[in-house]
Amino acid sequence: MGKFIIEGPIRLNGEVEISGAKNSALPIMAASILSSGDVSLKNVPDLGDVRTMIDILNSAGFKVSFENNILSIKKADKLNSNVPYELVSKMRASFNVLGPLTVVNGEATVALPGGCSIGVRPVDFHIEGLKKLGFEVEQQHGFVTARKPKKLSGDVNIYLKYPSVGTTEHLMTTATLMKGCRVTLNNVALEPEIIDLQNFLNSMGAKIIGAGTSTIIIEGVEKLSGTDYSIIPDRIEAGTFIIAILASEGTGKVKNVIPSHLDALFEKLREIGTKFDILEPLREVHIPRNNLRELSGTDIDIEPYPGFPTDLQPQMMAFLSLVNGKSVIVENVFKSRFLHVDELKRMGARIDIKGNTAIIDGGVKYTSAPVQATDIRASAALLIAAICADGVSIINNIEHIFRGYENVIEKFKKLGAKIEYIKE
Ligand code: UD1
Repeated sequence: MGKFIIEGPIRLNGEVEISGAKNSALPIMAASILSSGDVSLKNVPDLGDVRTMIDILNSAGFKVSFENNILSIKKADKLNSNVPYELVSKMRASFNVLGPLTVVNGEATVALPGGCSIGVRPVDFHIEGLKKLGFEVEQQHGFVTARKPKKLSGDVNIYLKYPSVGTTEHLMTTATLMKGCRVTLNNVALEPEIIDLQNFLNSMGAKIIGAGTSTIIIEGVEKLSGTDYSIIPDRIEAGTFIIAILASEGTGKVKNVIPSHLDALFEKLREIGTKFDILEPLREVHIPRNNLRELSGTDIDIEPYPGFPTDLQPQMMAFLSLVNGKSVIVENVFKSRFLHVDELKRMGARIDIKGNTAIIDGGVKYTSAPVQATDIRASAALLIAAICADGVSIINNIEHIFRGYENVIEKFKKLGAKIEYIKE
């Protein structure tokens, strides 16, 4: 694993253009399996997880090309619907190809994703949902095999115990080609990426309504055509840069942002006392110089959208440690997503964890230290802390960051960060 060597403190300054959303691109790529035509996707971020999904599509028999953020997916005559452990273990989102491959091929086998550093992440909701859609699902030797029933018909009503993003996307996609069925999904996730997936599927001829509300209705169709579709901007990447600029007392313009996707972040930033301007029609957020000493702590509940996103929790925690006063973060999505805490403490943060609650005693000044990155967003949080820290910090195992952020070194360097990447 490689490392970042970062020299701080630096006040970030300049402009950054946000890439397409990783969490839209992945389920949309999985849903492309359903198309009978060629799919062209624009604004696809070139990052590790997208490369993993390309490998999965290639191994299934698709011909995928990827250049200048445009991804073309062409179907081969014969599909292989077995997805090996090596690909699924790299990224949980790969599990979402199970339903689409089963619908197209009649049967598919996908490895169970297994453990994940941000906590236990089972796929029981996915499996239960597929069964309710009428599929036979079997789990054996670490693999899940699904079979399409001979006859699919009638109305299916599914209530999700929890508004899981991946389950909503998986079931909505799978139901699309269930001609003769009308599937109603209740208590679904409300994330903007679900709306993006609905728009993508409908652009191929699917009949789906309701994404963005808690009920989605899918009328199964027989066939989906090809399409040319553009992915929405990545709200988590945008939030990461906004937080990084604020934490470093920098100034800057964050471009290609859909501001309404970040309402929960903006509300908390206003509560803390930060100044920033949202230029809705330009899709930009402008950040003037803020003084950390004038800001004060806050309480944040991490919840499914439209609540404060878990994927910005580590970055926000890195920021709140710099802000005067006490802050409390309650993590309700991944209840043990706190692996970044001990690493932030190595850099001087004062954080206590009690169950799923982090109590942050703010007002610290980060000092440089060697630290370990454990996942995509933890890496981003440590990067923010290192940019603000006095001295040279080393972030080991930094490769996680390349799974989720496109051109991350170039983008931060353009803002003035001093980062050297050492590949090992
Ligand atoms: C997606 C995002 C991820 C984000 C998360 C929550 C993608 C590719 N990933 O992940 O970046 O952090 O939403 O916003 O879009 N759960 C179960 N059983 C299941 C499924 C989920 O218990 O079968 C639990 C999880 O352990 C977790 C909670 O439900 O505690 C939320 O997970 P979910 O919304 O499914 O997240 P993902 O789709 O995996």
